[in-house]
Amino acid sequence: MLSEKLQDALNEQMKNEFYSAYLYMAMSGYFQSEDLPGFASWMRIQALEEMTHGEKFFNFICDVDGRTEMREIIAPKNDFQSPLPTFQFGLEHEKFVSDRIHKLMDLAQEERDHAAQIMLQWFVTEQVEEESSFSLIIRKLQRVEGDGRGLLLLDQELGQRVFVPPAAE
Ligand code: FEO
Repeated sequence: MLSEKLQDALNEQMKNEFYSAYLYMAMSGYFQSEDLPGFASWMRIQALEEMTHGEKFFNFICDVDGRTEMREIIAPKNDFQSPLPTFQFGLEHEKFVSDRIHKLMDLAQEERDHAAQIMLQWFVTEQVEEESSFSLIIRKLQRVEGDGRGLLLLDQELGQRVFVPPAAE
C-alpha cells in the first residue's frame, strides 16, 4: 500500500520527468534554429526518453493502486546562446533529477516500501548514465570550441543517436 507521502513524492517526480521532456524539446528547437540537426535530433530523443520516464512513474502509481495527479509544468528556459552552455544547463538539470531520485529512494527506504525501492533502483542507474552522456558531450564541445568543422562533425555524430524504448533495452 502506497503511503500518501510517497504517493505525493512520486507524483511530483512524474511531473519533473515530463518537465525534463519539455526542457529538452526547448533545447531541440534551439538547435534546429541554429541549423544543427544532429544536436536537435539528439535532444528530441532525450525528450522522448524523458516521456518514458514520466510514464514509468505513472504506471507504477497505477500498478500499486495509487492515485496519479498531473501537476502544473512551468515553462522551461528557451533562450540558449551556444551548444556548450546548453549542454551544461542540461547536466545541471540532470544532477537536480538525480538528487530528487536519491531523496525518493531515501523515503521509500524509510517507509519500507520494497516495490517502490525496486522501481527507483532503475532510475538510480539511469541517472548515472544520464549525467555521463551529458558530461561526455560537454567534454567534446570543449575540445571543438571555436572550430566550426569540429562542431559539424559532432553534429553528425549526435545525429546517429536512435531512440530505444526502455522495455527493449
Ligand atoms: Fe529522466 Fe533525464 O531524467
